[in-house]
Amino acid sequence: MQELRPTDLPPTADCIRSIQSWLSGYPAQPLAYVHSFGCQLNVAEGEQLSALLTEMGYGMTEDVTQASLILYHTCAVRENAEDRVFGTLGSIKHLKAENPDLILCVTGCMSAQASVAEKLAASYPYVDIVLGTTPVCRLPQLLYAHMQRRQTAPPAGGKRKTLRPLCDLHTDTDIPEGQQSLRDSTFRASVPIMYGCNNFCTYCIVPYVRGRERSRHPAQICEEVQALVKAGYREILLLGQNVNSYGHDLPEDTDFPSLLRELDRIPGDYWIRFMSSHPKDATPALFDAILDCKHVAKHLHLPVQSGSDAILDRMNRRYTVAQYLEKVAYLRERVPDFSLTTDLIVGFPGETEEDFAATLSLVEQVRFDNMYSFIYSRRTGTKAADMPDPVTPQEKSRRMQRLLSLQREIAVENNKRFVGRVMRVLCDGESRKSPGMLTGRSTENMLVEFPGTPDQIGSFVTVTITASHSGMLDGIQETA
Ligand code: SAM
Ligand code: SF4
Ligand code: F3S
Repeated sequence: MQELRPTDLPPTADCIRSIQSWLSGYPAQPLAYVHSFGCQLNVAEGEQLSALLTEMGYGMTEDVTQASLILYHTCAVRENAEDRVFGTLGSIKHLKAENPDLILCVTGCMSAQASVAEKLAASYPYVDIVLGTTPVCRLPQLLYAHMQRRQTAPPAGGKRKTLRPLCDLHTDTDIPEGQQSLRDSTFRASVPIMYGCNNFCTYCIVPYVRGRERSRHPAQICEEVQALVKAGYREILLLGQNVNSYGHDLPEDTDFPSLLRELDRIPGDYWIRFMSSHPKDATPALFDAILDCKHVAKHLHLPVQSGSDAILDRMNRRYTVAQYLEKVAYLRERVPDFSLTTDLIVGFPGETEEDFAATLSLVEQVRFDNMYSFIYSRRTGTKAADMPDPVTPQEKSRRMQRLLSLQREIAVENNKRFVGRVMRVLCDGESRKSPGMLTGRSTENMLVEFPGTPDQIGSFVTVTITASHSGMLDGIQETA
């Protein structure tokens, strides 16, 4: 592994120019393939990495076998996320053997761990570039250094000797502004508003790989959202590991509810969504902002993780079940069927049958509209990794099945309340299962399927709900 720092290399703009000039010498435009694993933040960064690659002269392809450069933006949140990346790297080894000029980059949370970077160098020596959660704008510098050492301009062909991967794992504290994105969607855009996390939940790797919280300045966020709305985007997703602590690190007197209110003043027809919200920092000021702001979607994702105080304490979540329920009650007092979703971890180290029963009881009380549940995955370096974990994997799976079946029953009951309602839905595509049908999401983030024509994709439509299922609503359009 050859470690590089930005100071070892020419400035980014110079690297971009050199790469543009090298690539223009290729007989045909080289193509890049980018795939992001993990959360919405990774997807948003993947779009920024794609924009940088296009700026450097690459065309984009969705066919990995056609690519001259392959980039995987990785996730480390659970073991299976990492296994998927290692499996994918193994499955493309032959492409590198067939084309020694192929450039393979691994970036993101998984490769930010020194142990993983070492494993990549030892077991996947055909990886050329390893970047951690280093700002995306560092890619051109590493690519420049790699191209220079391989003297790949224009490609010489023939056998190449395997070089050690170039690596940059430094997480900067500053935030690169003005980064362009090659967005997948023309109507839905993600906007990171902060990076990193200070919470150190004991199961979670994110603070170790993403560093401490850094908020973007409100003026820059507003400018970006304004430009997106002007360009016709209908849904803006604000991203942060805990958006509720947005602004605490800024000199400005600002916070997340004020940011929502400021964004809400941008004229246009659009929705604002956000994730994630840590319950300890979810205040009445946040709930009031959601309910008052006409562009803010009427849905809150509030990850509870467990319904047992003992487990919440060992998770270092810093709220109790009673405090969580108090927050839910505040919202439901104003909007009785306010849409809530959550994340839950099953089988945290030492979770007893009573702890799990407490989780089921919380789920029954809150009656979430949707839930993302995960079996605890041990992450080396986190505090929970050292906690005794006597519950067997079979028992954890049994608990998971029990939780999922309870949630399915609740969702079936909950969704009945929408039947007969007229809902505004952002149409997002054609149904994969039912030909001639479109799908979309309501302000409550409910998935709705209805008949329509593909030209409606990306616009708001009005739909009357005719039937409900556990994960979806059926509807018909008022005016098709
Ligand atoms: N920052 C967000 C929050 O606090 O809600 C979410 C971050 S994490 C990317 C998304 C979800 O993954 C968490 O809410 C948690 O339920 C789950 N998760 C994180 N670490 C995990 C682990 N070690 N094992 C199982 N699930 C985990
Ligand atoms: Fe992980 Fe907790 Fe931070 Fe979310 S708030 S990213 S779960 S440490
Ligand atoms: Fe995964 Fe990193 Fe997101 S660990 S969930 S990609 S912040």
